[in-house]
This record gives sequence, C-alpha cells and structure tokens, in this order.
Amino acid sequence: MKLITKGVRGTQDILPKDSYKWRFVSDVMMNEAQVYGFKEIKTPVFEHTELFDRAVGEDTDVVQKEMYTFNDKGERSLTLKPEGTAPAARAMLERGLFNEGVPIKLCYLTPCYRYEKPQSGRYREFHQFGIEMFGAESPAADAEIICMATTLFDRLGITGLSLEINSIGCPECKRKYQSALKEYFFKNKTQLCETCLDRLGRNPMRIVDCKNPKCQEISKDAPNIIDYLCEQCKEHFDTLKEYLSSANITYKVNPKIVRGLDYYTRTVFEFVSDMDEQRDVVCGGGGRYDGLIEELGGPKMPAIGFGIGIERLLLLMESQNIEFPYEQCCDVFIASADEKSYFKAFNLAKDLRESSFIAEFDVVKRNLKAQLKYADKIGARFSMVIGETEINDSKATIKDMKTGKQFDIRLDDNFLSDFFLVDAQCELDSEQENA
Ligand code: HAM
Repeated sequence: MKLITKGVRGTQDILPKDSYKWRFVSDVMMNEAQVYGFKEIKTPVFEHTELFDRAVGEDTDVVQKEMYTFNDKGERSLTLKPEGTAPAARAMLERGLFNEGVPIKLCYLTPCYRYEKPQSGRYREFHQFGIEMFGAESPAADAEIICMATTLFDRLGITGLSLEINSIGCPECKRKYQSALKEYFFKNKTQLCETCLDRLGRNPMRIVDCKNPKCQEISKDAPNIIDYLCEQCKEHFDTLKEYLSSANITYKVNPKIVRGLDYYTRTVFEFVSDMDEQRDVVCGGGGRYDGLIEELGGPKMPAIGFGIGIERLLLLMESQNIEFPYEQCCDVFIASADEKSYFKAFNLAKDLRESSFIAEFDVVKRNLKAQLKYADKIGARFSMVIGETEINDSKATIKDMKTGKQFDIRLDDNFLSDFFLVDAQCELDSEQENA
C-alpha cells in the first residue's frame, strides 16, 4: 500500500480498540462535573490570537514557541486553542453568562494544540477536560475544585497520584517576588538559556518554569514565592489547607510550582504521578486566575479552574492495569443461507435494533460458513441462520455462541418476545455458573 500521506506528527487516531475507553473516561468526568454543578460549554477550535497572547501571556513557552497560529483569508491572525480556560472565559464574558448570577460553573472536553516535541504523553493535538468556576473568591471554591479533581481520579480507579499545592500570591506579592527572582537570576545569568535571558528583565517567574535542564538546575536554589506572600494571600492559602485537611485530602506544599501559564494568581496545584514509568508526569493541574477576566476587558471577577490531559490520564490508567468497562459487542448475528433470506435477516436485525439490541447481518454476501466465522470474530453473543426452511416454518434456531446451547425462536410477531426470553435465560445461566 502506498498512501499519499500520513497523519500529522504528534497527532493520534483514536481507533475502535481504544475509543470506548475515551467514552468511558469522558462519561465519568462529565457525570462528576454535573454532580458538582458544572454545565458543559463548547467553544470553537480557533480563536483570535490576541486572546491567548493576553491570557496565557506573551512570555510563556506556549505563546512564544508552541501555538499553531495562522492568517485566514481575511488576514486575521487566528490560533488553534492551546488550552481551554481562555476560550471559556472569553465566551462567558461575550455571551453575558455572568448576568445569570455567580458562581458560573463550566466544564468542557476539548481538543488542544501545542507545537511541542512529541513523545509518550506529549502530543501536538491532545484533549483536555476542564472545569472553570467564575465569581467565587473564597478558599472554599479552591477546595471544591481540588476536591472534585481528587474525586475524579478516585472514580476512575487511579492511584499513585500526589496532589501538590502552592500559592503564587496576588499581583503585589508577585511584584516583590519577581524582583527577588530578578536579583537571583541576574547573578547566574551566564548559565541561562537565551529565551530566559530575554525573560529576565520582563518576567523572571517564567525562568522557574523553563524546561531547559540548565535553567531548571539554577531554579532549584531560587527564592520561593511562598516567602513573599502578603497577609491576605497567606490567610487564603492557610484556609484552603484547612479545608483540604477537613476533607482528608492528602496534599504536599511544593513551593516550586509556578505553573506554565501567566494568568495564575494565589492557589496553584498539580497532580503528579509517583509511579516509576510515569514519574513526575503532570497529569492535571490548575489554579486561581483572579485577574484574567479584567485582563480580557470584563469586570473584576475572581476565578479558579482545573484541567486534565485525557491522553496522559489514559496512559496512567493503562500502566496501572485499570479495567475499562467491557465494550459492548454484537448481541445477535443473523446469517443468511440464500439470496431471499437476506431480506428477512435485514428486517429481523432492524426489529432487534429498534429494541436497542446490537444486531448484525451479512452485508458483504459471504458464504454461510464465512458468515458464522465472522460472527465468532466479532464476538457475537448469539447467532442464527435464516434459510428457506426457516422462512417457510416461520421458526429458527438461535445459538448461544459461548455455551453452544440452542433455542427455538419464532420469526413472526413473537420474535422479539422470544428473543428477550432466550436472552434472559442465558444471562441467568451464566450468572449461576459464575456464582
Ligand atoms: P496545563 O497544565 O497547561 O493547564 O495543561 C493541563 C493538562 O493538559 C496537563 O496537566 C497535561 O495533562 C495536559 N497537556 C498539556 N500539554 C500537553 C501535551 N502537549 N500533550 C498531552 N497532554 C498535554 C492548562 O492548560 C490550564 N488551562 C488548566 C486550567 C484550567 N487552569 C485553570 N483552569
């Protein structure tokens, strides 16, 4: 086979052998979000570039190096969304959701695009599940978001994740911290990468988050933001810790977390895997972004949220051998013995499907033996053969493919009720056998 092209590097095709796992994970997440009162929002795949420049921050790796930005035919600069928070905030403001009262609680599952070096768990197209709460300033909101995130991981059966929290303060704390950082990094500037040298004057906090190993090494001894928090920020952080302890949520304060996006203020947190193969992989993270809404031209409105990468989550679940609910497969395969029986098979399958059974019949016109082989291959629970005799007698035999047991089934108006009985009988037999 000589294909004219292949899928784009850093993207994945989610094949049927995996897509049911995606559906399971997204159902669990969306259901949990609903329990916590979050409502789904869908925003476009692309936005005006200035949204991300302003929200994510011009000094971040995401904006400087990773965005898929292009001009459309009207010469507008557009960007494929690299994350879900800024579009949700933009839509919330533009569509006036804040008029409906606060807090506004939104959730989403969206593809995201970042031009990163592809490797296991890092893609150029990936998917984020996110929740965002707008209009709540209290640490109780931070606790609620973190609590929901931990519940989600529990519901999915994931273990071995550590919750690490930090506070990066309000703009006033950040100013003091930035100046301490500037002083520290200035002394070590010969060892910084070129991008960080550029960041030194404008936004030294971004150096702490740089992925260059040398910059990471120097950052280890850099001052910690936690030592520069004002009274109110300290109190906010302490109250959050009290909330977490009251709910028995285990956490570790990691003063090095600054997060890779500029909009964060006060609480930031990450869920980090402590399993060998996935060690230090950040599976999900989030935090407060009390200044973003104003930055986008909206009113003063505190906000907090959280995002999980679905691909990383699935990798983690697979490495922990977590079982996904059994993928539903074919209930009945109806094989046809001759040309005329195809019409009957087609109509019987239609009746079964209207009663929500998964029914298949042969649409590629194979011989009978090949049809039954195919039924076996797709894991059909039952098979039946329809031929001239069956049609004339209005009666057929249905076979439980696992046990080999056979049952008579009428092909007239009683077909569905007969099938329900056979189905129930076989379920019962198998339950008794497994008991
Ligand atoms: P983030 O930490 O940049 O935060 O991304 C959230 C999650 O997306 C990461 O923890 C990771 O699981 C996943 N992720 C990021 N980049 C990639 C990639 N290249 N390949 C695969 N997975 C990736 C945000 O984007 C914030 N919007 C989260 C948030 C919501 N903060 C407040 N509300």
